[in-house]
Amino acid sequence: MIGIYDSGVGGLSVLREVCKRLPRERIVYYSDNAFCPYGGRDPQFIRDRAFAVTEKLTSEGADIVVVACNTATTVAIAALRNHFNIPFVGLEPAVKPAAAASVTSVIGVLATAATLASSKYRATRDSLPRGIKVVECVGEGFVELVENGCLDGPLAEETVLRALEPMLEAGVDAIALGCTHYPFLRGTIERLAPGVTVIDPAPSVARHLETVMSARGLIRRDRQTSFPDVTLLSSGDNSNLVRTYNTLVKPELSSIKL
Ligand code: DGL
Repeated sequence: MIGIYDSGVGGLSVLREVCKRLPRERIVYYSDNAFCPYGGRDPQFIRDRAFAVTEKLTSEGADIVVVACNTATTVAIAALRNHFNIPFVGLEPAVKPAAAASVTSVIGVLATAATLASSKYRATRDSLPRGIKVVECVGEGFVELVENGCLDGPLAEETVLRALEPMLEAGVDAIALGCTHYPFLRGTIERLAPGVTVIDPAPSVARHLETVMSARGLIRRDRQTSFPDVTLLSSGDNSNLVRTYNTLVKPELSSIKL
């Protein structure tokens, strides 16, 4: 069973791609929404939650965990790998694909304050070829928009534009989405930044997950179902997660052929 977790509904952008890639697996998704957002919190708090959530996921039967949260990955995945005897797959802002896609050599990274401040993110950024300029912005208010299902309209546009403005002024032509909530605002981002390549790492994370599972013999070959088997759990009220899954994930999955 695959465990996937995030501070809230953001990790559903990863779950969506995992379901498309591995539709026969059983998946348990955990939204730690009683403690959302993680982005402005102390790293030790985020690590403590990562341990508590992983305990919960393994007690539900998970034998591999996707940390579908850039913030938790950057501050907690090394400690998780040290402590738990199962494989972990994490999320990181796709700065290298953004640099590869850029013609202007000016790229944007949208992420939480905790991710941008982490040494893991800074090491990845500093490994980019010289000559690539990186403009970083916190998606201030983005997580709240997505948690509330507000993905377009005046409030979403105003909030997104505030974060994009410094990037557009600097001439970015590629933006890495460094928080799993942000892909749900992709339509608004692309409308406000026409011609800019927007990169969501979720499809490549799903590919990587398949590779890791395959190497460990964890891929199911026996199950015949008409739909991925997904259990949704939350540390707080579950209704938001269920509603978001039904509106933003389920419709896209109905075309999956098993
Ligand atoms: N979705 C998360 C991430 O990828 C965390 C957002 C938050 O809780 O601040 O960073």
